[in-house]
Amino acid sequence: MTAYIGSATSRVDGRAKVTGEARYAGEFSIGGLVHGYVVESTIPRGRVVRIDATEALAVSGVIDVLTHQNRPPMADKDSAYKDETAPEKGAPYRPLYDDVIRFSGQPLALVLADDWETARIAASMVKIEYKKEPHTTDLHAQRAEAFTVDKPEKPRGDAAKALAAAAVRHEAEYFIPTEYHNPMELFASTAVWDDDHLTVHDKTQGVQNVQQYLCGVFKMKSDEVSVMSPYMGGGFGSGLRPQYQVVLAVLGALALKRPVRVMLTRAQMYALGYRPATIERLALGANGDGTLVSMRHEAIAVTSQFEEFSRNDTGWGNLLYKTPNAKFEHKLVKLDVPTPCDMRAPGAATGVFALECAMDELAVALKSDPMHLRLQCYSDRHQGEDVPYTSKQLRECYREGAASFGWDKRNAEPRSMRDGSDLVGWGMATGVWEALQMPATVRIVLSANGHAEVSTAASDIGTGTYTIMAQVTADMLGLPIENISVRLGDSTLPQCPLEGGSWIASSVCNAIANTARAVRADLLKIANKAKDSPLAGVDVGDVALVDGKIFSKRDAGRSMTIAGAMLAGKADRITCEETNKPNEDKSHARNVHSAVFAEVKVDEELGIIRVTRVVNAVAAGRILNLKTARSQIMGGVVWGIGMALHEEALHDHRFGRVMNANIAEYHVPVNADIHDIEVIFVDEQDPLVNPLGIKGLGEIGIVGVAAAIANAVYHATGKRVRDLPITLDKVIQFD
Ligand code: MOS
Repeated sequence: MTAYIGSATSRVDGRAKVTGEARYAGEFSIGGLVHGYVVESTIPRGRVVRIDATEALAVSGVIDVLTHQNRPPMADKDSAYKDETAPEKGAPYRPLYDDVIRFSGQPLALVLADDWETARIAASMVKIEYKKEPHTTDLHAQRAEAFTVDKPEKPRGDAAKALAAAAVRHEAEYFIPTEYHNPMELFASTAVWDDDHLTVHDKTQGVQNVQQYLCGVFKMKSDEVSVMSPYMGGGFGSGLRPQYQVVLAVLGALALKRPVRVMLTRAQMYALGYRPATIERLALGANGDGTLVSMRHEAIAVTSQFEEFSRNDTGWGNLLYKTPNAKFEHKLVKLDVPTPCDMRAPGAATGVFALECAMDELAVALKSDPMHLRLQCYSDRHQGEDVPYTSKQLRECYREGAASFGWDKRNAEPRSMRDGSDLVGWGMATGVWEALQMPATVRIVLSANGHAEVSTAASDIGTGTYTIMAQVTADMLGLPIENISVRLGDSTLPQCPLEGGSWIASSVCNAIANTARAVRADLLKIANKAKDSPLAGVDVGDVALVDGKIFSKRDAGRSMTIAGAMLAGKADRITCEETNKPNEDKSHARNVHSAVFAEVKVDEELGIIRVTRVVNAVAAGRILNLKTARSQIMGGVVWGIGMALHEEALHDHRFGRVMNANIAEYHVPVNADIHDIEVIFVDEQDPLVNPLGIKGLGEIGIVGVAAAIANAVYHATGKRVRDLPITLDKVIQFD
């Protein structure tokens, strides 16, 4: 049953992607297509007094300029704008709704023209008169205004008292700046009218989420709107919520009754969601022998004035390290900025960075090896819930990662290891994320000729969903993978949640298993319509499909080909639809873990940092595809390198604007920054987490990486940098 599951199968959509056959949201060429270009606010807060589009409208080829004053009707209730992943508290932003300006870069007008260049030049001629209001975009300046939000992590014991009494203490503040997803593909939507049906090609991680949202915003019926997103050039969380360009494209299409495409520029995408700048305060107390006695973790993060976005930053220590006293607090500061959103391992990427740097600092204070300290404090239980894990092969991650990295050859003394003029540093950190499963429905259509189509409304955001679905279906139906076609990214397909949270693989593959079982049952029933069926009386639990045949597992001689069975039952296809059954059992915690080891080489004179080696050992249950799984972890490590050394949105707080809204000045790692990355998958069999033992891999790859690098930089230089990114000016020693 496992010819494909666990193998290194190449992407089944790879050819379509490299040949350009795969079309993205901004690539649908339709006769009469109108192009929209967004005019954004240049101020962060205030009101629109007047929009003068006279000059823009006079440009030949310009069809219309939409503003809040002349746009088609939109819903006036907040609930209509709440999508599946909108923050619970607050009122979602309504694109082009009224004259209120809530953030710089907010769309204020949409220029519609025959071609994109015309729309763009005309957009530069739209004049906007503002009434400015005082704004604030600086987290540090507004820190005193922070308010606490409810989180499930409850305090234990008396963390303050235990800290005060601890033999060894470490207290510090860490900072992660605002970071952007910067997917390669620009956000785009193409809205097409056809006989009063609206079809939207959208860049999104959730077609059904956008479909429901559009129905709400435009008061349309479910069957009047379909949303398509079969391919995405990266999302990383930026496509979880409907983005404003989809509303603008639909507004244009409704106004003109013509197909309209709105594609954002890279700069405009800096007015979408982002990873919120976060201050993380850690206080750890230990006995002299290295037992943890107190842990306090406080996060202070940015949100917008109109929504309260927050994730779990502070709870991860509860999962990793045993301590009788603990306190966690998450605070928010409202600023005149767009609402932050999920970005790869939201909360964990930031919170675990701080926690794992703090653990390293505690190890230094204890004169202990950092990995030894983690093993000493290792928790076999989720302490907040006081339950064990379905599986937690984290000890094995430390062991295999350390062995491959050569951790035992580390000289603990900072600045003690060298390579010519470079200081060499070795650091490590732990990673942790959730292993979730969400309800998803999968349809399988098995044809008499031994082909199967498997479909659900998920999007493949580049993670490999098409491929793992083809693998699992092929194995479960006993067919060659070439006989499987996968359909995704269409809101009319069976229900599927957003592609996010690393939950799609477990959700969809377990749903495939249930659907394949139903297909086998149907096939058996059909086969038994044959006179003298060789499978007569065979129980459905005793049949398997292999090599295009259905046979009895007890007596392999009793079999029929798929074609033969269908002929017997006078059927040319079998269609089944089943849902997975997410485990509601609260008696176990479900998590994925990793141990990250990093080597940096720091030029002693110039402070230039290179990450020369990273070993990431991951325990994530059953690995469905070694190739796509490794790609996910490698991609996460690359992000971690960017987080540690490069990424930072810079704001000019006088104007409330991002200054480096492009990927020339917002630095991301390039090929030259990436050296040796080794990915290890630790064996982890977990029949408890879900029937197939799948945990998901989309996010764990980034968690812990920035901390491992920061810890390595300390080891190399003796300089502890607690605010990211670690740039050369922060490490260079002027003496
Ligand atoms: Mo992910 S941040 O849930 O796309």
